[in-house]
Amino acid sequence: MKILAVGGGGREHAIVEALARSGHDIFACMSNSNPGIARRAKDCLLVNEKDVAKVVDFATTKGASLAVIGPEAPLEVGIADALEAAGVPTASPTKAAAMIETSKSFSRELMAKHGIDGRAKFAVASDMDEVKGAIDKLGEEIVVKPTGLTGGKGVKVFGEHLMSRDDIVSYAKDILDKRIGGSAQLVIEEKLIGEEFTLQAFCDGKTLAPMPAVQDHKRAFEGDRGPNTGGMGSYSQAGGLLPFLKDDEYEDAVGIMKGVVDALREEGAEYRGVLYGQFMLTREGPKVVEFNARFGDPEAMNVLAILEEDFGSICESMAGGGLSARDVVFASKATVCKYVVPEGYGVKPLAGEEIRIDEEAIRSEGAVLFFANVNADGERILTTTSRSAGVVGIAEQIEEAETIAENAIKHVSGRIAVRHDIGKQAMIESRVRHMEQIRRHD
Ligand code: AMP
Ligand code: GLY
Repeated sequence: MKILAVGGGGREHAIVEALARSGHDIFACMSNSNPGIARRAKDCLLVNEKDVAKVVDFATTKGASLAVIGPEAPLEVGIADALEAAGVPTASPTKAAAMIETSKSFSRELMAKHGIDGRAKFAVASDMDEVKGAIDKLGEEIVVKPTGLTGGKGVKVFGEHLMSRDDIVSYAKDILDKRIGGSAQLVIEEKLIGEEFTLQAFCDGKTLAPMPAVQDHKRAFEGDRGPNTGGMGSYSQAGGLLPFLKDDEYEDAVGIMKGVVDALREEGAEYRGVLYGQFMLTREGPKVVEFNARFGDPEAMNVLAILEEDFGSICESMAGGGLSARDVVFASKATVCKYVVPEGYGVKPLAGEEIRIDEEAIRSEGAVLFFANVNADGERILTTTSRSAGVVGIAEQIEEAETIAENAIKHVSGRIAVRHDIGKQAMIESRVRHMEQIRRHD
């Protein structure tokens, strides 16, 4: 099949590798020149990924019979609607269905209207009176989020970024005044306590085929300190659960996502594509932190690296229907993904710096390399302000996978940063202990 792939990050390189290994012809649109994607693609267009007209024209000119969109920004401007209208079936949601990610007030109101489990208490506010009313109702143990997209950087949590009622009020005022996230609206919700995990699922509008659970690490620095980022690395365990996540809790999360897909269909916005649920495993079970209308980045690298089926045919089923959960098989392996990022990432990233990646040496360590938001300039690879490359170790146990990833990362050099603690035994044990503590307080 000729398949259009949109996006130029690590997630999209993983998507393209999964398609290419099943023999499909890739036509790529991206805003940076990712060398990993470029080398797998039959043709590439360097373009603003939100320029729907240009992307659609490229897809139809190249005769693409299927499209898959990596990032959320093009979904928000209706790229899937436009591709479908131009006759290109698309394995990513329409603008209306993508609102599950692009509007936090929409996702919370949808869950409330349809009585879906896993809800945090919340309030939507569009002026300061509503903000004060929300604080009176929910107390100060809350989280403040702009309704619209902020690339993972708009959420502020009481006790971490907000230390008093005054802080809450002043951040809320900022969101409203500056229209952070694109509109003068915000969500205030109960602060959830527990361990976070990601559950991604393929979806054809009706059937949900869940993938292995993954844990991402959003904080920039080791020990979960520093600012929130797009994600510094992630791990998964053989068999699909996580060291702190039990089978019935995983199934509860699947049930919540199924509820959302059913609700969207009832609302006339059938959801086709990968649905990403970010959950907090609390003492009352999994609760929803966020939904995304796409694969996670880095989480796509964990799961696609062990997908045993033809990803192209899964995309075809997502776009056209007939997805069967039984047909989606993952190798029963643990994975650890570590992101190499530019020095200063999360605060003031060093863009335009050369990094050196010894691909042969990485391969010989048994790791898988995904290029991310870099620019190839002849033989040179230059950083941007975003993440540079993901390295994935795959093994029976998380510990072995971590060692593979860590050894491989030694073959990347330049002005870079890495969170070496991700996937290490000590980190995993602290997550398990944290969850045990929370469960004990039943
Ligand atoms: P987001 O960008 O919306 O995925 O949120 C970024 C981070 O903020 C999440 O990964 C959580 O760690 C934290 N967060 C968001 N919502 C909540 C919540 N209701 N309770 C606790 N932490 C939250
Ligand atoms: N890793 C978090 C995200 O993709 O939103």
